[in-house]
Amino acid sequence: MSKKIKNNVYSVGKVDWELRRFHGDELSTHHGSTYNSYLIKEQKTVLIDTVWAPFSAEFMRELPAEVELSRIDAVVINHAEIDHSGAIVDLMQHLPDVPVYCSHNGVKSLRGHFHKDWNFKPVRTGDRLDIGNGKQLMFIEAPMLHWPDTMFTYLTQDNILFSNDAFGQHLATDKIFADLVDQHSLWKEAIKYYANIIAPWSKLVDSKLRELKSLDLPIDIICPSHGACWRKDIHKIIDAYALWANGYREDRITIAYDSMWGATRAMAEAIAKGIREADSEVVLAVHSLAKSDKNDVMTDIFRSKAFLLGSPSHNKCALASVGALLEELRGLSFQGKKAAAFGSYGWSGEGQVRLNSILKEIGYECVDDGIRNMWQPSDADLARCVEYGRKFALKVQ
Ligand code: FEO
Repeated sequence: MSKKIKNNVYSVGKVDWELRRFHGDELSTHHGSTYNSYLIKEQKTVLIDTVWAPFSAEFMRELPAEVELSRIDAVVINHAEIDHSGAIVDLMQHLPDVPVYCSHNGVKSLRGHFHKDWNFKPVRTGDRLDIGNGKQLMFIEAPMLHWPDTMFTYLTQDNILFSNDAFGQHLATDKIFADLVDQHSLWKEAIKYYANIIAPWSKLVDSKLRELKSLDLPIDIICPSHGACWRKDIHKIIDAYALWANGYREDRITIAYDSMWGATRAMAEAIAKGIREADSEVVLAVHSLAKSDKNDVMTDIFRSKAFLLGSPSHNKCALASVGALLEELRGLSFQGKKAAAFGSYGWSGEGQVRLNSILKEIGYECVDDGIRNMWQPSDADLARCVEYGRKFALKVQ
């Protein structure tokens, strides 16, 4: 059943209450998600985005209850990733000649995914589509938010920005608007979404926000493609994106480690103790990479002013869980984080040295050479880790 956004704009997408893993198995979605599709019924009827392919049949079963399919005059695909374009093949079987508005890269992505040659109408920033009743759709390219093809669509008069992935949250809710959902879950999912999906493109986020400001478009509602729509205090999510895009950090330190026989874990806890002794205010997050959710760890690191990675030496390397986290940290390119590495070893101790070296290589500022410890830490070794934690806290203040 559709839900009204404003005037003749309706939400016709899918709430996926079950979803727990996304992007294959790469991303955790503890609170499910939604695949938002929007129907605009002015003199022209326009569908903006569809739903993920597994829900295509359901989408196509329910859409005719909202609009006679033959009345759809245009389809807009803001982003061709299949969580938004997945139902287009089934849809276009009913609308073979209807124009599909998307970016130039969108044409390439849609052709690449579906190998179909629909009636593509590639658009650029500033191009407009008249939909009658004095209203227009204006297109705004937004490359890398979150794919090269992404664009926003702005509806004049109603002042709605359909922003696709940007400003989204993986949050299943049957309440359409952000002000109606649990605020803790909303913001937790919004920042997790930014940290794990949008962060690599922070420079482009910053410039897109400036461009939007310079376009001086009145925006009453932001309708993303995942989660709830922003209609009250929308400056809060825009301001949050401006903060997150510019070397965001809170007074928080994250320690992430893996351990084989408990020595690196003991070091982690001793370092945490030292940090707390030196700084009673800083928020500490300590994660075992074997136990914690990777994306939650990454969100904590994104929120932190500094982080420590710990691993025992294993086959002259760090443990695979820590190596995988480093690879992801490389890709996410968080800005303005200080870091260091620690770990235990039994023979030659390459693991911690390697961690420090990779942290530097991928652009994180190592405050020192970190700390390593041979064999299980003794009381004296743990005292040395506590002292290291104290010094680390002072160095990153
Ligand atoms: Fe929600 Fe980039 O797809």
